[in-house]
Amino acid sequence: MATCVMMKNSIFLIIFACLWTCHDARDTLAPGDTLDSSSSLESASAKFTLSFVDQRNSNFKYLAIRRNKYNPNKAWIGNRNRPISSSSSPLLTLDSNYTLKITQTGEDPIVICSAPQTSNSTSSGVVATLLDSGNLELQEMNGSRVFWQSFDYPGDTFLPGMKLGVNHSDGHIWSLVSYVDTYNPALGPFSLVWDPNEHELKINKSGVVYWTSGVLRSDGTFEFILPNVSKQRYNFSIVSNENYGYLTYTAVGDQSLQPEWVLYSSGILQEYEGQMNIVQAQNCDGYDTDGGCVRRFQSTKSSGTKIDKWVWIGTSIAAALVLCTAYYLLRRRRSALPSAGENRTEIENEMLIFMKSN
Ligand SMILES: *[C@@H]1O[C@H](CO)[C@@H](O)[C@H](O)[C@H]1NC(C)=O
Ligand SMILES: *[C@@H]1O[C@H](CO)[C@@H](O)[C@H](O)[C@H]1NC(C)=O
Ligand SMILES: *[C@@H]1O[C@H](CO)[C@@H](O)[C@H](O)[C@H]1NC(C)=O
Ligand SMILES: *[C@@H]1O[C@H](CO)[C@@H](O)[C@H](O)[C@H]1NC(C)=O
Ligand SMILES: *[C@@H]1O[C@H](CO)[C@@H](O)[C@H](O)[C@H]1NC(C)=O
Ligand SMILES: *[C@@H]1O[C@H](CO)[C@@H](O)[C@H](O)[C@H]1NC(C)=O
Ligand SMILES: *[C@@H]1O[C@H](CO)[C@@H](O)[C@H](O)[C@H]1NC(C)=O
Repeated sequence: MATCVMMKNSIFLIIFACLWTCHDARDTLAPGDTLDSSSSLESASAKFTLSFVDQRNSNFKYLAIRRNKYNPNKAWIGNRNRPISSSSSPLLTLDSNYTLKITQTGEDPIVICSAPQTSNSTSSGVVATLLDSGNLELQEMNGSRVFWQSFDYPGDTFLPGMKLGVNHSDGHIWSLVSYVDTYNPALGPFSLVWDPNEHELKINKSGVVYWTSGVLRSDGTFEFILPNVSKQRYNFSIVSNENYGYLTYTAVGDQSLQPEWVLYSSGILQEYEGQMNIVQAQNCDGYDTDGGCVRRFQSTKSSGTKIDKWVWIGTSIAAALVLCTAYYLLRRRRSALPSAGENRTEIENEMLIFMKSN
């Protein structure tokens, strides 16, 4: 009887322990903790996860922060330019020197960030925590100082609360850079930057500006950012002072539709799964200014008419000169001759021949 109760109790205990551990998704790595390819960090309210993800249509894995939902976007990638072979078993570790890094057998570690070891502020320890905003922070154990955050190193995705612009104090630039192509997240051709002087967003391709947003209008919208729906979805704010020049936004309206702006390798800036194209910079062919596109070339039509005009003016001047000279020469000849009647027709004929030959 006693053993039966004991067994019952231990079964309960085992089930309870399992449920407890299954639900106890951690949001924090402490020094010495690791994350393997089958575990993840989950933010406090389970909004975002951090884990190793197999990239579709490739043989690589990436450390990614994603919304906790079906078919999520990789809002941030820790190893964009250092893909990890799918067959390897990487570990994410916060080591005792407060360095957050990816290790894999036979490869150099990929260092993501580190905190100073010898400063007084780290004496209480350092932890890496995934927040409900999607931001991964390397911070002092009691949360009073942040040494590094993933929001400072955006990938191709602009989440509410992130910044685009520049920190004038240290020159750090917050910008998005597209993938190389659909499945390769290495740094690609398009970037989305905030111009702190002109107060405009810009998309540039290999350093050449393709698109600008226009300035923020008094109604809180940008001329070329979804003018009809922007107000129902985004609350933009601009910070501009001697230390910072940046744009950030929060989501307004339906909180279940949290926006993620993604700059795709084709040049499309789109709200992920919102099916809303914010900008199609690939349509900015350089000849017109529709939808915020930037003109980079003279349109062939207008430059064509310009050339035609000059050719036409040149020909006319030449023709006029020829006619004047001919008329002058013929007049001289005519005045040298005694009889006028006959010669007039002769002159007229010669003039006609001249004009025809021209
Ligand atoms: C921490 O840093 C010290 C000194 O640079 C080094 O000897 C040690 O191996 C490091 N520890 C780890 C876990 O990397
Ligand atoms: C570190 O703490 C010591 C003693 O508490 C203090 O004398 C020193 O100035 C502190 N150093 C820094 C960089 O704060
Ligand atoms: C955090 O820890 C440091 C060092 O132990 C301490 O000086 C500071 O007061 C703590 N801050 C908070 C908000 O607890
Ligand atoms: C801007 O840079 C300064 C100097 O490095 C730093 O102290 C500050 O925290 C930075 N601000 C932001 C918002 O990252
Ligand atoms: C274009 O983007 C690159 C980053 O890809 C940046 O370094 C450069 O300053 C940008 N150019 C302009 C004109 O904004
Ligand atoms: C957006 O609004 C403008 C006028 O305010 C209208 O001409 C245009 O058709 C609208 N576009 C869409 C997609 O509703
Ligand atoms: C937009 O954000 C500002 C703070 O940046 C806030 O004061 C304002 O109430 C927000 N507006 C809406 C409509 O959420």
